[in-house]
Amino acid sequence: MKTFTGSNILSVDQFDREAIHTVFEVADRMEPYAHRKKRTRVLDGAILGNLFFEPSTRTRVSFGTAFNLLGGEVRETAGMNTSALSKGESLYDTARVLSSYSDVIAMRHPQSGSVAEFARGSRVPVINGGDGSNEHPTQALLDLYTIQKELQHQGRDIDGMHIAMVGDLRFGRTVHSLSKLLCLYKNIRFTLISPADLAMPDKVLAELDKVGHRVTITDQLEGHLDKSDILYLTRIQEERFPSQEEANKYRGKFRLNQSIYTQNCQSNTVIMHPLPRDSRAEANELDDDLNQHPNLAIFRQADNGVLIRMALFTLVLGVNNVIHHYDCPVQWLTSKSDQQGL
Ligand code: NCD
Repeated sequence: MKTFTGSNILSVDQFDREAIHTVFEVADRMEPYAHRKKRTRVLDGAILGNLFFEPSTRTRVSFGTAFNLLGGEVRETAGMNTSALSKGESLYDTARVLSSYSDVIAMRHPQSGSVAEFARGSRVPVINGGDGSNEHPTQALLDLYTIQKELQHQGRDIDGMHIAMVGDLRFGRTVHSLSKLLCLYKNIRFTLISPADLAMPDKVLAELDKVGHRVTITDQLEGHLDKSDILYLTRIQEERFPSQEEANKYRGKFRLNQSIYTQNCQSNTVIMHPLPRDSRAEANELDDDLNQHPNLAIFRQADNGVLIRMALFTLVLGVNNVIHHYDCPVQWLTSKSDQQGL
């Protein structure tokens, strides 16, 4: 990636190690703003078009929050039914119009490739918030940022680590993007645990193979976690199945709770999940009894999403080096600054 300014962020394929380093360095600098130690008005007057044509809580709200924390305004549309796309409007037309109302657009859509198609009609940079089962680049960046921080805390590195990915590896876009991003690192071991029907796509496996990462594929959770530094769980992506009955065949197949963790994992294995976790009884893929476990990184992961998205906005809009010129004090009572490091 040569420059961020004015660029779309559509795929992790755009990134090299240098670009990742830049994003992470800016994300680190966003902490005081996210923790309300100070404010910046660097994006005062700028407008984010936050277009979510598929369900989302974290990604949508964290894009909006990130933009607000930089002083910008957010215009939002959520759901397909309330959009003119449901009247047959093309992505190109929607993009031409909405991009004239915004300075940057974040978008999620159920079809693979849709965000790239939208970007072709847009006159402002477009950031992919998830396109079908294809990619979720900002999630992969925040996942990688979290992995780096968690391992650093243990005095270790991403190069040479062992990651186990569990669940719906076929339709889960987060594991596709994260695996591809990990191809930029050295000597990573993958244990891919899924039902055979929901295995990691060959295209992604081929990329792992090309860079020499070692991959073990299995449909068993127990007995395969003892070497992993990172355990990355995912939800069965029920919305991508032809019917709920079909999805139900797989929900609840892999579950992690305190006792399974203790029996199968190293004592320092970091537990990650992009969220939402399916907590309904028949699935309960990541049990509440791990909520207080120090190695459960899922909420730190979600918090890091704001830092990464703030970093991307400042880079794409070309203000990453002037943020501090627009600093101002926080006037209200805030407990956020006490949460740092939690
Ligand atoms: C993920 C997604 O939408 O792909 N969620 C998220 O963005 N944090 C994972 C999921 O929905 O299971």
